[in-house]
Amino acid sequence: MPVDRDQMLGWYRRNRARSRALFDLLADDAYYQQPIALRHPIVFYEGHLPAFSFNTLVKRGLGRPSIDARLEALFARGIDPEEAAEGHTAVWPDRAVVEQFAAEADRQVIDAIANADVEQPGHPLLDRAEAVFAILEHEAMHQETLLYIWHRLPLDQKRSPSGYRPRVSGSPPSHEWIEVPGGCATLGVERGSIRFGWDNEFPSVSAAVEPFAIERHDVTNERFLEFVESGGYRQEQWWTPEDWRWVQTERVSHPLFWEREDGVWLWRAMFDRLLLPLSWPVYVSQAEASAYARWRGARLPTEAEFQRAAYGSPGGERRFPWGAAEPTASEGVFDFTSWDPEPAGSHPAGLSAWGVEDLVGNGWEWTATTFAPFPGFRAMGSYPEYSSDFFDGQHFVMKGASPATACQLIRPTFRNWFRPRYPYVYATFRCVRSAAGQSRT
Ligand SMILES: [Fe+2]
Repeated sequence: MPVDRDQMLGWYRRNRARSRALFDLLADDAYYQQPIALRHPIVFYEGHLPAFSFNTLVKRGLGRPSIDARLEALFARGIDPEEAAEGHTAVWPDRAVVEQFAAEADRQVIDAIANADVEQPGHPLLDRAEAVFAILEHEAMHQETLLYIWHRLPLDQKRSPSGYRPRVSGSPPSHEWIEVPGGCATLGVERGSIRFGWDNEFPSVSAAVEPFAIERHDVTNERFLEFVESGGYRQEQWWTPEDWRWVQTERVSHPLFWEREDGVWLWRAMFDRLLLPLSWPVYVSQAEASAYARWRGARLPTEAEFQRAAYGSPGGERRFPWGAAEPTASEGVFDFTSWDPEPAGSHPAGLSAWGVEDLVGNGWEWTATTFAPFPGFRAMGSYPEYSSDFFDGQHFVMKGASPATACQLIRPTFRNWFRPRYPYVYATFRCVRSAAGQSRT
């Protein structure tokens, strides 16, 4: 099926408009700040999004000339931290220069999508229009990165969209284990059978899954509070040696999204600080999720168990937990419908076949599976380092979606991954236990 240029142009323009709207949430003095030390300063991202699109599709894909080689290189990967350490102070351009570069990159990308030969069978970047989809999904994914970086900025550097109120009403759901029968879970998908996927989604592999029980809901702040208050962050036995070292050196004593003031727990929302919403899923690192699961006598699901819980059904695998219908706001909290999570269990229309809630939306879900290629993996031509740079045994797979995940990224094979002690992302979890196992509830 040939690429639908109008559809791609519409998506590109909507992406750009959303990115601009996200930058418009910030006060001017935030532009050169770096709220997370491991990420670039904010200025980088305003250049990076159009630079990646231009570099990938126009320059590398179509072989067209540079706009500004220095900016294209700067915004391709930013400043190497080692260069900075050697004294080459990063000099980021003025915002006007970034915007001028972005406008020209946009013009050329739009022209390419509208008119150029962007779909060339056998071409390393343009086969099945790979580069077009890569730039579109790249920008959509970065919008989530922007938001979790924005989340760490002081509140007075952000402007709340008018009328926005986090949804905190509702009491936490009661706790429940759901039995999932054993069976096969499909990980990945055959090349050519979907319009586009990232290289780590191919090819398809089938995994046998033993029967297990999984929590109906994500672990809520209410349940996680029991771990915090029972001293879980001070008890070495729940943590791996590396995670315990992290807890001690960084003096971690509660989830990063929580704050303590005058003996009261607060939640740092995007635009406000709230009394800790007990019904919301807890957002934590994989290290904290694993420690909690151990404390409960349970464990995190594997990627295959997540797939089985989310997409399995007595009649075979489904496209989405709720069936075949395309995702809408009824089935879960995703696609930027909220700047914060919502109470667990708010979207019963998104139930999986087994009755598990919120598997897609309201926060990515940590798994116990190390991010690794499926047998037969091939790095993609349009973005060869996308996955392969992270097959180092130091990253864990997350599945599902968060409030800041675009609906175009919602598909069973999409995989996200982070280091286990990276606490900034919109990631929650739920526990599982093997069918014969015992666990405290
Ligand atoms: Fe990027």
